[in-house]
Amino acid sequence: MLTRKNTEIIFGGDYFPEQWPQDTWKEDIRLMKQANVNMVSIGIFSWALIQPDENTFTFDWLDKIMDMLAANNIDVCLGTATAAQPNWLTRKYDDILFVRESGEQVPYGSRQTYCVNSPSYRKAIRLLAEKMATHYKGHKALALWHINNEYANKNSMCFCKNCEKAFRGWLQKKYGTIDNLNESWGTVFWSEKYSAWEEINTPRASAGGRNATKLLDYKRFLSESFFTLYLEEYNVIRPITPDVPITSNFEGDWSKFDHYLFRNHLDVVSFNIYPDPGNPDARKWAALRHTMMRSLLGKPFMVMEQAPSQVDWYPVNIPKPPGLMRLWSYQALAHGSDSVMYFQWRASKKGAEKYHSGMVPHFGENSRVFKEISDLGNELKKAKDIVGSTVDSKVAILLDNDSWWAVDNPYGHGTKSLDNEVFWSANGQPFPTVLVSYFGELEYYFNAFYDLNIPVDVIPVDYDFSKYKVIVAPILHMVKPGFKETIENFVKKGGTFITTYFTGVIDESVGVFLDGYIGPLKDVLGVKVEEYNPLPPGGKNAMKMTGTIKGFKKKYGCSIWCDVAHTTSAKTLATFVEGYYTGSPSFTENQFGNGKAYYVATRPDKDFMRDFLSKIADAQGIKISQLPEGVELVTRSGYGRNYGFYLNHSGTKKLVTLPKGKYEDLLTGIAHQGTLNLVKYGVSILRKTK
Ligand code: GAL
Repeated sequence: MLTRKNTEIIFGGDYFPEQWPQDTWKEDIRLMKQANVNMVSIGIFSWALIQPDENTFTFDWLDKIMDMLAANNIDVCLGTATAAQPNWLTRKYDDILFVRESGEQVPYGSRQTYCVNSPSYRKAIRLLAEKMATHYKGHKALALWHINNEYANKNSMCFCKNCEKAFRGWLQKKYGTIDNLNESWGTVFWSEKYSAWEEINTPRASAGGRNATKLLDYKRFLSESFFTLYLEEYNVIRPITPDVPITSNFEGDWSKFDHYLFRNHLDVVSFNIYPDPGNPDARKWAALRHTMMRSLLGKPFMVMEQAPSQVDWYPVNIPKPPGLMRLWSYQALAHGSDSVMYFQWRASKKGAEKYHSGMVPHFGENSRVFKEISDLGNELKKAKDIVGSTVDSKVAILLDNDSWWAVDNPYGHGTKSLDNEVFWSANGQPFPTVLVSYFGELEYYFNAFYDLNIPVDVIPVDYDFSKYKVIVAPILHMVKPGFKETIENFVKKGGTFITTYFTGVIDESVGVFLDGYIGPLKDVLGVKVEEYNPLPPGGKNAMKMTGTIKGFKKKYGCSIWCDVAHTTSAKTLATFVEGYYTGSPSFTENQFGNGKAYYVATRPDKDFMRDFLSKIADAQGIKISQLPEGVELVTRSGYGRNYGFYLNHSGTKKLVTLPKGKYEDLLTGIAHQGTLNLVKYGVSILRKTK
């Protein structure tokens, strides 16, 4: 259950009544009822109003709106208001603002300027959380706590003295002795040996390449700091309101901290999704993000924010044309969301976000956008049976933050500098190529499954694999202790394992595996890698199949990277055709116990991905759905029923051939058999009746 009620799809958005005169509030409630809004998120950025100075807390205005919402049967997802601290707090304590890598303390004047490890900030949020929870305990409208907002969005990296101190403490706990640390970090290299904990500084840009283990440890430390920051509030609120579920609204960018750390302390996963309507692959982009959120707890999640129309932070902000907002809302539901919520209820008149769309636009209720919103809000009543069901995947893609941080390094190749605005990777060190991307490869494999309408989960490396038939590990650069055994067991029992180039290169402490990359995965894959050849921009090689294999063409193009590998027990299915390593394996298969392990030594073109993954799906009895171009199918199941979401993302009408049986459309009540017509941006949710 997502919230106390949870028998309906949650529909609503971020609501900032404090930005409007109280007369408007009545109007808001009227329009909310009209649009069938049943939940709003409030309070998120209202700290300065709730606590005007250190010793005063005032809840009058918030009480008033909470009561109005309760009287109208609209639930509240209550923000703890900690995502933007008041100026008086910032000015009073000099440790609040985060410090950029350049050493500059960020000026105040926006949100998320706080340092994740600031003792003064942490003390203040504990007190605020306690006041909020005590004050609203038992309030009829309170359905869900919304702790902070978008952790790490702007302040993911801090290099202040408090972080430095906390980092030393973290290292002491991890390594025990300075000798262990020196050993793990390999500080013998470039005379970096530390003789006391006090010598350890934060890994700010130095004269040249930095210590890779130190960089990764600092990233791990900050990632954990965001989790412990969350716990500061969680631990206060939970005992005061034990029956009210708790969430934190995630940004959806998993590179900034390891989201899996939160797994055991979240009742509901919620996040924000803002695909660019100008991106032709927006639907795949969104599908992956929904999938990651659903997989985090393996149950329905919440879309806490999406845009009613355009955002205001892409270089060019294209509105969602008629029908697209509805379609993308159903896409979220298809992938396992039990809510459709927006940023924000009423488009702002002032402040930084006045060009961002709202459910009630500046134009008011007689607008296209509000009409589409209220039509959808009312239509969703018909789809309420899907609540609580989820997507059942037999394929899982592994996401490992350590491998990600060790590989994706947009600033780390000598020229780019580290900044909070730029994705920060642990890898501020010389590197084989800027063209390889951990997350890019993950996305490439996800999209290939998406194109075959095969549902996947995205899970961490230490997860229980028993429900899956196929595990895919794109660029599993770091192999941690225990993974070798887990994956060998999985394959032995009949599972299929797929991995790629640049896998198994480093261990937990960023030390290279000797005697062949692929490292501990050598046995399961029957391969070891001697060297690698990153290809120049635009460079190509090809994979030539070693024989005629059903379902495969003779040859496929490939790019970005070629591992130069040797098989031990694996069968070579394709070889490279160019370079000094012509004839070396580019694609192998290893029978291991009852299962098979595949190794792809390069980035194959899309036709290979289609043929390869179709073959894997066939072999494992996983259904592939052939649909017209631009049509997506996702099935949610639960309580003995299946709901097939047919989503037409294309600009033209499409005719879909249905599997055998009779179906009923949840939204229209119309019966379907044989075929289904979908108009442009059309949606059908089909339940089998016979
Ligand atoms: C989110 C944020 C909201 C709002 C929105 C605009 O990242 O949580 O407060 O700024 O973006 O798209």
